[in-house]
Amino acid sequence: MKSYDIAVIGGDGTGPEVTREALKVAEVAGRKFGFSLNWHPYDFGGDRFLRTGEVLPDSAVDELRKYRSIYLGAVGHPQVKPGILEKGILLRLRFELEQYINLRPVKLYRAQDCPLKDKGPEHVDFMVIRENNEGLYAGAGGNLFKGTPHEVAIQESINTRRGVDRCLAYAFEVAKKRRGGQAWKGLKPEDVEAGKRSQLTLCGKTNVLTYAFDLWWRGFQEMAPAHPTVKNEYAHVDAICMWFVKNPEWFDVIVTDNMFGDIITDLAAMIQGGLGVAAGGNINPEGTSMFEPMGGSAPKYTGLNVINPLAAINAAGMMLDFLGETAAAEAIENAVVKIINTKIQSLAAGRMGFGTTQVGDLVAAAI
Ligand code: IPM
Ligand code: MN
Repeated sequence: MKSYDIAVIGGDGTGPEVTREALKVAEVAGRKFGFSLNWHPYDFGGDRFLRTGEVLPDSAVDELRKYRSIYLGAVGHPQVKPGILEKGILLRLRFELEQYINLRPVKLYRAQDCPLKDKGPEHVDFMVIRENNEGLYAGAGGNLFKGTPHEVAIQESINTRRGVDRCLAYAFEVAKKRRGGQAWKGLKPEDVEAGKRSQLTLCGKTNVLTYAFDLWWRGFQEMAPAHPTVKNEYAHVDAICMWFVKNPEWFDVIVTDNMFGDIITDLAAMIQGGLGVAAGGNINPEGTSMFEPMGGSAPKYTGLNVINPLAAINAAGMMLDFLGETAAAEAIENAVVKIINTKIQSLAAGRMGFGTTQVGDLVAAAI
């Protein structure tokens, strides 16, 4: 039987609770589809930091590097200054393991979970590909005269040809595969006639950020001819925010830089039903990838068995898909859709009509 070794960082707050449900569901899928999962737990997070003063030992990064996949619950602890755990664990792993793609499927499973009037599952179904190693997150910059009236704070966006191109290339591949021969509803008849099957939108700000997005724009234009089945579009980030609310059905695959990607994926999470279902993958296609629910550690709900584990379960599904267990991943998604549509009252914490563990059990049973 095939087996997979997976590093598990449950993390802070409700992270361990939702992780438990996600692993439970993944195991059930494994039994059904003929593979086993060996979990290797790591206790990185706020509690360990408060106990030992250490966020992530250097040796841990090298140890984690040996795995094909890491499962991460949540980081963020109320007694730890914001930034320490986020930068010390999440961002450090994204950078050092070169997880240069942040993959965010945005899919609404039930109309009532969408805050937009007259929009249902047929309108909200797209994918955001966020660059995950560069941009404003690179940490380039500094201060002068800190704490004085003359203080200067500089934060620069780093965009490299290699970083931009590999992100665009990944996005074109995702777009190409996405609509297996089906005409995407965002395409006009003449696009379909011209052989287009999917659409990739570059999200930028070419009218103001004329250095960074000039590079992105040229990379995009240069790569497009090699992908004739993908219609390429461009939209400014502010307009994208507007259209996510007004016409989310226009989007198929979106590619963007780190900061814009961070912002638009929170908005996107809301139109798919909120942080209770939104999951993401930090992908290094050739190395170690890391999967996580989008929501934070939600400390006020810790231990109450009220937090929604569906985002964590979806993250486990993405992980299995990444490992090549596509049938198991599909079964998890179908089970989630079924449970939402037949059982769950609301996707919000405490209002599901079931506890965290029960929701995990329901999904597991549906598989
Ligand atoms: C995300 C999160 C992180 C980010 C934080 C926790 C550092 O918001 O994954 O989107 O900004 O990337
Ligand atoms: Mn974010």
